[in-house]
Amino acid sequence: MDPILEIIFKRRSIRKYTDQPVEPEKLELLLQAAMAAPSAMNCKPWEFVVVTDPGKLAQFRQRLVFGDRNAPAAIVVCGNPSLSTNPTARLFWVQDCSLAGENILIAAVGLGLGTVWIGVHPVAEFVRTVREITGLPKRVTPLGLLYVGYPAEEKSARTQYDKKRVHWQEYGQE
Ligand SMILES: Cc1cc2nc3c(=O)[nH]c(=O)nc-3n(C[C@H](O)[C@H](O)[C@H](O)COP(=O)(O)O)c2cc1C
Repeated sequence: MDPILEIIFKRRSIRKYTDQPVEPEKLELLLQAAMAAPSAMNCKPWEFVVVTDPGKLAQFRQRLVFGDRNAPAAIVVCGNPSLSTNPTARLFWVQDCSLAGENILIAAVGLGLGTVWIGVHPVAEFVRTVREITGLPKRVTPLGLLYVGYPAEEKSARTQYDKKRVHWQEYGQE
């Protein structure tokens, strides 16, 4: 199979991690992958907070309802629309930052790492909590918290292809 497709199918949400720390060089590579993503008018309205501090990771685990995972690292994907100079481009910050985040999830597979995306924006309570833990200013919105670590669980590669969700030429046509 094509190696890129193989990696895409292999990416699964990993929710159990070993204690092995993630090498800083690998975290940097993930961020390079993130910032290779396309963005509207190439405005790149993203910023990232990398968290490896055990105290802060413990706060994520304790304070986020769905955040109780034992990863040794997390990358908070943030949107800062004020980085976009164009008012129309600014509206696309969620898509731009989602694509950057997905690049992290995919690149991690190639580096032997596991990840899971913990949703933050647009749930006001989650946004407030992540802001508090990471010291984000108001103009910067945490979109998602991506846990990163070496997997302690195995999941099978798969697509979830469903041809009923695909319409050719017009809606309703298979
Ligand atoms: C926007 C978004 C928010 C998510 N939030 C959570 C979450 O809070 N906790 C969690 O364990 N998984 C979360 N996930 C992961 C999904 O549950 C997971 O992608 C889905 O069940 C499909 O499984 P897979 O990633 O193994 O293909 C989230 C995924 C996305 C895209």
